[in-house]
Amino acid sequence: MDIHAVSSQIDLDIQQVDSFEALEEFRLRYLGRKGILAELTSVIPSLSKEERAVFGQQVNALKNKLLSLVEDKQKSFSVSPEKRRRTSSDLGMPGLAQELGHLHPLTQITDEICAIFSRMGFTIVEGPEIETEYNNFTGLNIPLEHPSREAFDTFYLKEKTEGGKQKTEKLLLRSHTSPVQVRVMKKHKPPLAIVVPGRVYRPDAVDASHSFMFHQIEGFMVGKDIKFSDLKGILAMFAKAVFGEEIKMRFRPHFFPFTEPSAEVDISCIICKGQGCSVCGRKGWLEILGSGMIHPNVFKQVGIDTKQYTGFAFGMGVERIAMLKYGINDIRLFFENDLRFLRQF
Ligand code: PHE
Repeated sequence: MDIHAVSSQIDLDIQQVDSFEALEEFRLRYLGRKGILAELTSVIPSLSKEERAVFGQQVNALKNKLLSLVEDKQKSFSVSPEKRRRTSSDLGMPGLAQELGHLHPLTQITDEICAIFSRMGFTIVEGPEIETEYNNFTGLNIPLEHPSREAFDTFYLKEKTEGGKQKTEKLLLRSHTSPVQVRVMKKHKPPLAIVVPGRVYRPDAVDASHSFMFHQIEGFMVGKDIKFSDLKGILAMFAKAVFGEEIKMRFRPHFFPFTEPSAEVDISCIICKGQGCSVCGRKGWLEILGSGMIHPNVFKQVGIDTKQYTGFAFGMGVERIAMLKYGINDIRLFFENDLRFLRQF
């Protein structure tokens, strides 16, 4: 191979190189492991001593030439940082809008309600959404034959078997936040003042006021000499903080297996101020929560001495409170992720 011919071929080839890819191809062709330079080097051992000295020098010079050609080309392709700065930003261009998100309205109202109770000395606790049948029902004095235990009112989970044997604990998606009462009272001794926000599940057909998943906030207080009047006072403070000072409240007798006596709590209709309208069904009142004095059977289940302690509990639906507060007429709006709805909060 004539080394001078190779050298002039290099001069021609480098002129054709007009991109990084072409340069890489050029580099491999000449300087690669099986490239032309390697080929030239491989003949050196077969030459005579004198030839070897001259040819070796020529090959070396060729190598240096190639290296500097590749380096120069590479530099010519790279844009200097200064030039890049000059070309890549146009100070006259409108900026990229940074869209800030915000908390979901249900998270906002949950935080707001928890803060109200927290200011009154309640501690915020959470519990699991997968519960045992015991915590969701038995521990709360809900008897085996109670309709809410039916499969069409509660989502039961497939029973796990262990070594062919059925595990004793039935699991379900909790249908209310009340099982956290059982969890907390089994572990901690009174005095207790707890609020529990969280998701709950019921196999209801979805419509404007029902969803198979929704949110509740449970509250309970246990101590010496806790009375129904304490429940009333706490809930009146809560209702005024959420709905305004002029809101009125009433307690209607009701039944819950885990409270006795029990009451449902209504607030005066925020639309018609109690005159009667289509929102309150002409009654002037809107139901917002269930409540009562904790049933002695619940205390027995969790091992709290009924001679020493009494307590109250309440549970409210977060969607319902938010719908009333903001005048929202369809629960599905909370879960459809329609930004036109969510951006209003
Ligand atoms: N757990 C009840 C429900 O989901 C609400 C409630 C809680 C009632 C605590 C009384 C006391 O309907």
